[in-house]
Parts: sequence; structure tokens; C-alpha cells
Amino acid sequence: MPTALVTGATAGLGRAFTRALAERGHDLVLVARSERDLKEHADLLHAGHGVRTEVLVADLTTDEGCALVTARLAAEPAVDLLVNNAGIGYENAFGQTGIHAEERLLDLNVRAVLRLTDAALKEMTRRRSGAVVNVASVAGLGPAWLSSTYPASKAWIIGFTESLAASHQVRAAGVRMLALLPGYTRTEFHQRAGIPTTFPPPWLWLNADDVVRTALRDLDRGKVLSIPSLRYKTAAWGLRHLPRSLSRRFAWDLSRPGH
Ligand SMILES: NC(=O)c1ccc[n+]([C@@H]2O[C@H](COP(=O)([O-])OP(=O)(O)OC[C@H]3O[C@@H](n4cnc5c(N)ncnc54)[C@H](OP(=O)(O)O)[C@@H]3O)[C@@H](O)[C@H]2O)c1
Repeated sequence: MPTALVTGATAGLGRAFTRALAERGHDLVLVARSERDLKEHADLLHAGHGVRTEVLVADLTTDEGCALVTARLAAEPAVDLLVNNAGIGYENAFGQTGIHAEERLLDLNVRAVLRLTDAALKEMTRRRSGAVVNVASVAGLGPAWLSSTYPASKAWIIGFTESLAASHQVRAAGVRMLALLPGYTRTEFHQRAGIPTTFPPPWLWLNADDVVRTALRDLDRGKVLSIPSLRYKTAAWGLRHLPRSLSRRFAWDLSRPGH
């Protein structure tokens, strides 16, 4: 059976990835910080789908947490699919969150993705098979949130993934890479960040299982970018093609009083 390693596997999109991959018959390595949630979810997946599950308790904002996961990526049974999903955002404007919190965001959203991708690609290119899914966001395509490092962290993921996915080094080794760009999706993300969920209107919220189904279908089709739903494909087109000066006027400004 193929093995998939999913970070942020206990909630939201990560949890949906583990469910979908278990349905496809993948054994799973689940990564997050909460040991209790990891074990409960691993037991459910094993009982429901008969797949083998491992848990790795790791805080990916730390060197130790990343080292634990990169060591697993270099070990047997080999990991065939890495899903770099764990990520955070903040409600407060840059300058109000504090520089350590901003660094933690970059540690998780950028540095952990860099380290885990590096470790996975070393093995996958040697074995000449495997795939990496990096969870970015539509917000990474342009100035969607003002006074926030979050869109910049996701822009890095998109650029990094596209750059590697299209390279001779990765393609010639038969390895696939995909950046997933969800729009607003119902998960624990906003609640954890303290971001109100009264905006956007209900019709703009996506379902995590639908997002993951689209991502895995796009990975199977060899796509490099996956943008689930027509609504967010349209938003993505706007962010990419409208003048930035115009997009900025419609952006959510975290520093505006009462945003
Ligand atoms: N929800 C959206 O609207 C949306 C839209 C676009 C993109 N995204 C992206 O989708 C990804 C998943 O988000 P989500 O909405 O599913 O979030 P979520 O529901 O808040 O789940 C986050 C997961 O990440 C884990 N996690 C958090 N901090 C961690 C750390 N330091 N080390 C290891 N694991 C950590 C959490 O478990 P523990 O707390 O136990 O560690 C949890 O399993 C993120 O990269 C996010 O930026 C989300």
C-alpha cells in the first residue's frame, strides 16, 4: 500500500486529506501537535478503512519538530505522498501580533514546507516516484489581505511549488508537485485565528472534503495548481489579471478599525 504523510492532520483540510487518502487505500503518517487528537483520529481511520496509521507529535514551528518529520520522510516504509498542509493566519494587523508571532507564522507556513519538501524530494527523486501537495491559498495570488504576512507566506508556497514542479530535476524523476489554492473553507482555521466567520457570505464558503477531492483529482491529472470551485477560479483570475491598484481597493485590511 502507498503511504501518505499529512501535516495538520487532526482538523480541517488535513483531516479531510487523511479521510480521502484512507478511502484510496493509503497508509497514513499523521502529524500535528495534539497527541490525543492524533491518536483518536488515527484509530478512527484504521477502524474505518483498515489502513496502517502512525502518529508523529511535532510542532513544525520548531527545529526539533521539523527534524522528527524529516527523519520519518527518510525512513521506511517510504512516503509516497507528502501533504504540507499545516498553516496558520492571524486576525490582528502586522505590528499588533508581535514579531515572534509573525516569525512563528513564517516558520510553519514557509520554513517547515521548505524543509519537509527538501527531505521528501531527496527520497522521491532517488526512488523516481512520489508526489508533494503544498497547501497555499487563493490569498497568495495577490493583495487579498492588507497588513498581513499570511498572503506573502502563501505566495511563497505557490512560487516555490511551481518552480520545482516545472523543473527538469523533478519532472525527469517522475515526481509530481501540486500547489492547492483554496478559498474560504469551513475548518477550525478562522476560529483558531480569532477571525470572524460572519464574512464572507455563506455561498462563498467551501467544504473541506470537496476541496480535497478536487486537489487529488488535479494531482492525478498532472496539474501544478489546483483552485477548487468556479467561484474561486474567478477570484483567482481577478487577482492575477486585474491591476494591483484595483485589487488592493477590494482587499480586507486588517489594520482598518472595525475591519
Ligand atoms: N480554512 C480556510 O479557509 C483556508 C483557506 C485557504 C488556505 N487554507 C490553508 O489550509 C491549510 C489547513 O488549514 P485548515 O483551515 O484546515 O486549518 P485548521 O482547521 O485550523 O487545522 C490546522 C491543523 O494544523 C495543525 N497545526 C497547527 N499548528 C501546527 C504546528 N505548529 N505544528 C504542527 N501542526 C500544526 C493543527 O493541529 P494541532 O493544533 O494539534 O497542531 C490542525 O491539525 C493551512 O495551510 C491554511 O493556511 C485554509
